[in-house]
Amino acid sequence: MKIINKKTINQVGGVKITQLDIFSPDIAAKALPGQFIMLMVSENGERIPLTLVNTDKEKGIVSLIFQEAGFTTKSLGKLNPGDCLYSLVGPLGHPTEIKKFGKVILVGGGVGIAEILPIARALKQAGNQITTILGSRSKDLLILETELKSASDEIYIMTDDGSYGKKGFTTDMLKVLLAKDKYDLVYAVGPIPMMKRIVSVSKEFNVKTLVSLNALMVDATGMCGCCRVTVFDKVKFSCVDGPDFDGFGVDWEELEKRNKVYTVQEKHICNLFPKS
Ligand SMILES: Cc1cc2nc3c(=O)[nH]c(=O)nc-3n(C[C@H](O)[C@H](O)[C@H](O)COP(=O)(O)OP(=O)(O)OC[C@H]3O[C@@H](n4cnc5c(N)ncnc54)[C@H](O)[C@@H]3O)c2cc1C
Ligand code: FES
Repeated sequence: MKIINKKTINQVGGVKITQLDIFSPDIAAKALPGQFIMLMVSENGERIPLTLVNTDKEKGIVSLIFQEAGFTTKSLGKLNPGDCLYSLVGPLGHPTEIKKFGKVILVGGGVGIAEILPIARALKQAGNQITTILGSRSKDLLILETELKSASDEIYIMTDDGSYGKKGFTTDMLKVLLAKDKYDLVYAVGPIPMMKRIVSVSKEFNVKTLVSLNALMVDATGMCGCCRVTVFDKVKFSCVDGPDFDGFGVDWEELEKRNKVYTVQEKHICNLFPKS
């Protein structure tokens, strides 16, 4: 659980995205694309889920890429090589289904771009043709373009302000691609509003769409019920049944509401410990 390496992936305005390489041979030995870990920065801290973005089985190292969002990710961002996490549990969740689908479109928005990297590499290795759409607010907020370029057959960049790639949203490009050609799968990770809109586009073209849900998690072992989501009218626990789900069945409104449940408490903690 020792941090071996720390790299700032991006730091622009209020956005800070960091990569931590952590020595954890047991997790590295078993991790598969799409799985995640739960970590605690300190004994009294909360547990947060982060995706396993890369694993080096030989060296026993796992890599996490996270955006500082609130108290815990900010505390994590203050750790340095040589520091140890209080706890690290994983790999958790079902791995993403990796097989030959045919033509696959991967969509990543914001820090979700980091989460599609292991999926892109694994699906490419399984013989799929990979088209990747990356979305960010502006050029300087875009991450991992080079890495995703080498894992994709073609790549499209969309920025909200048009400062790089094409001006517009990932959904605009998805619409163009689906109208032009036949695809076998869409896989999307990013902010909930983005995934929700991606699903409504792919539904129009009836292309199977998987989404990796970022439901709030507490124990991540299926016991607390915090990560409850409704998929095709059935209650699922995102930590043990997911995090990947068929996007056509997700109750997005419920997910959006549930993810705001602790907003007041999180702000309170940040105000209590502004410098921690
Ligand atoms: C399976 C899974 C994988 C994830 N992988 C990554 C990743 O690779 N990189 C990354 O930057 N983020 C990832 N996240 C989101 C990350 O867990 C949250 O950003 C983090 O928990 C925020 O904690 P905080 O105290 O810093 O911020 P808070 O102030 O608690 O919250 C900031 C935002 O994060 C959301 N959030 C808070 N707690 C959780 C939680 N336990 N689970 C999910 N969302 C939460 C809140 O709804 C809010 O929108 C993942 C979430 C899930 C469920
Ligand atoms: S996080 Fe508790 S059941 Fe999933």
